[in-house]
This record gives sequence, structure tokens and C-alpha cells, in this order.
Amino acid sequence: MFRWGNDKFSHLGYRLFTFFYSERFDCYLFHYREGSYIPRHKDPSYGKRHYRFNIVLKKPKEGGDFICKKTILSLFNGRIMLFRADNSYHQITPITKGTRWLLSFGVRL
Ligand SMILES: [Fe+2]
Repeated sequence: MFRWGNDKFSHLGYRLFTFFYSERFDCYLFHYREGSYIPRHKDPSYGKRHYRFNIVLKKPKEGGDFICKKTILSLFNGRIMLFRADNSYHQITPITKGTRWLLSFGVRL
């Protein structure tokens, strides 16, 4: 379970550390390197509501903005976010300078 893994988006330049994953819960640490990004998407939900609680541990110097059509909660200038990942389009703009670290918890209800 504790590993730096690749997923279908690894070519976009970020790394994913999986602390835990199940159909209902997950917890990831994302490391966005300079140049990495995540295009606009929705997350899989397996027929459930997919909530994500994100904590930005480190902001990049430039870029790496989280853009989400609709958030449930946004605190500390976007450092802490809660949103429905299955029905709200979201993306990370390219990190143009520095790195971004994100702790992300998911629950599917
Ligand atoms: Fe997502």
C-alpha cells in the first residue's frame, strides 16, 4: 500500500503515493513536479457520491491552481477544499515554478 505509483495520468508529470485505497475510502499524497498539471475531469464514483477533502501542504511558486466548478468548502485561500469529485469538473493548471504537495482524502457514499 505504501508506494509511489504510476497511474493513467503519470505522463502529466505528477507522482502519486497511495496510503490507502478501497472502493469506499482512499488517501493519497500527490507530488506535482514543475511542468505537471491535471486536465479538466471528473473522478470515478462507482455509482456513489465521491467527496474529496484536499489539503495543500505546499503551494508552488507559480501556477498549480486548483480550479473547480463548484466547491462545498474552501478555507485558507484554497489550502483546504471539499468538493464533489464525481459531478464537479476540476483541474490543476500547469505548475510553472516550484512544486506542489497535496494530501487528498476520498470517500464514496
Ligand atoms: Fe480528480
